[in-house]
Amino acid sequence: MVYLLPDADWWRQAVIYQIYPRSFADANGDGIGDLKGITSRVPYLKQLGVDAVWLSPFYPSALKDGGYDVADYRDVDPKIGTLEDFNEMSATLKQAGIKVMVDIVPNHSSDDHEWFQAAVKAGKGSAERARYIFRDGLGENKDQPPTDWLSIFGGSAWSPSGSDDGQWYFHWFDSSQPDFNWEHSDVKEDFLKTLKFWGDRGVSGFRIDVAHGLAKDMSEPLPNWETLDKLTTRKLQNGNAELVHPIYDRDEVHEIYQSWRKLFNQYNPPLMAVAEAWVAPDRKGLYASSDGLGQAFSFDILLCNFHKEEYEECINRSLAAAREIKSSNTWVLSNHDVMRHASRFGLPDVPNENLPVSQVALNVFLQNKLQDPKVDVEGGLRRARAMTMMILALPGSTYIYQGEELGLQEVVEISPEERQDPIFRRTEGHDIGRDGCRVPLPWVSNEKNFGYGSGKSAHLPQPDWMSQYAVDVEDRDPSSTLNVYRKALELRKELQGPEELEWIKNDDANSDILHFKRPGGWEVVVNFGKTEINIPAGQVLLNSSGKALENDKIPGETTVWLKNE
Ligand code: NOJ
Ligand code: CA
Repeated sequence: MVYLLPDADWWRQAVIYQIYPRSFADANGDGIGDLKGITSRVPYLKQLGVDAVWLSPFYPSALKDGGYDVADYRDVDPKIGTLEDFNEMSATLKQAGIKVMVDIVPNHSSDDHEWFQAAVKAGKGSAERARYIFRDGLGENKDQPPTDWLSIFGGSAWSPSGSDDGQWYFHWFDSSQPDFNWEHSDVKEDFLKTLKFWGDRGVSGFRIDVAHGLAKDMSEPLPNWETLDKLTTRKLQNGNAELVHPIYDRDEVHEIYQSWRKLFNQYNPPLMAVAEAWVAPDRKGLYASSDGLGQAFSFDILLCNFHKEEYEECINRSLAAAREIKSSNTWVLSNHDVMRHASRFGLPDVPNENLPVSQVALNVFLQNKLQDPKVDVEGGLRRARAMTMMILALPGSTYIYQGEELGLQEVVEISPEERQDPIFRRTEGHDIGRDGCRVPLPWVSNEKNFGYGSGKSAHLPQPDWMSQYAVDVEDRDPSSTLNVYRKALELRKELQGPEELEWIKNDDANSDILHFKRPGGWEVVVNFGKTEINIPAGQVLLNSSGKALENDKIPGETTVWLKNE
């Protein structure tokens, strides 16, 4: 029996598949994945069993940051399709019972956006400049940036206006991504218009990029970098926040999301939204509250090493946090910003105290480790599959990133000339960036571009080893990663129930096992150890992250789903 949630709550326990459109499937053979390519692969998504897809940006963009530099929020990039293609794709997905979520990038636009172009042209003090963050440079000739702040992607967070007027504009990310001034009513109104535009086109929800960044206090004097880097928005005893950080996680940002929520609730069912917010755990709830966006990504599980204790602690903490704010937790192991988890689990542990705090920093850190030739590919995939099966059994929703269902490894064979991520360029190659998880998918092992597209080569190089992960190869192998995902998603629909979890404790203090129960007699055993263990008595095996089980034993580094006999 399938556990039915009210329509308005569909997202609480959904499996959402992230599509990075330019790397998914290329229908017209120009080397760039497109919307028609997605439409052609809907049967694949249906068979996989996902509830929704989230599309990373497909809007017109110069692709300076993989589409997160948006030139027009209410159109499709002509390089990858048209609005008609979007409609056709949505209709085909809808027919297959799959909902659509789109990515909203409200912190910054592209420097190609007509507002930014107009701002540069209109000059200092103009109404057009007020929609962005322009300041005078320092020094006699104003040729020094207004502050010493650094961009998240490296280098200065300010670039000259290009008008030779001594003004600079603020960009928290690449210089092609000027930050909006969210105090401006035009900006507020225009984003409501954008959300309505996509809501009216039938999307079910939104992923909100850099959700913690919109509200800023750019009044003078601005602190220097050393001070800024240490500032956070701390929670005070009375529950209010001490607003100390000028550009990060400020309380006023929630006024924006409350106005969005009013719009979302005009739809039936209401539109959902999930915040990408890299904030302290005690601040996350504000983004996920029901009068705000409703859900916020929890990336905590992505930071765990393959140790029972780390996961147990993280699961308890994440579930408690989601419960407190009446949202549901989001489980994520991979996305377009981090190293694929099959590779991550093949690397040595990262001591917890050394973990970088932001997603970009984490990835850069891991990428540099990946250059180490001692990557355990087989073990990495085994542990990745075990962790995927574990998170798919937890209460809450799971976000899957395209290609992880094939067990794809991170691609390191990309030359400096082929790299696209601005992080690579802005750090002069010091940090290798995120291209390795954005390489186009292999669909058919013996076709050109592995079936991704039949014309030009893929826009990022697909190494030969990818053929063994191609969909057609995995389709035929019952124990492939793809078939493990398919089976897990199918069973999950039947096993899903109230968002409850009960730990089953083991007497052995040294045990390497996590064991929990879900409603309806569904049990999950994760063997973090290297040696095999017995299946608990009275249980039948439903699914395993490993190969077929022998002698009713659960091999090391394997997760199994069981049901009472
Ligand atoms: C987070 C996105 O996931 C990432 O890909 C992008 O580079 C930054 N936000 C800036 O938009
Ligand atoms: Ca194409």
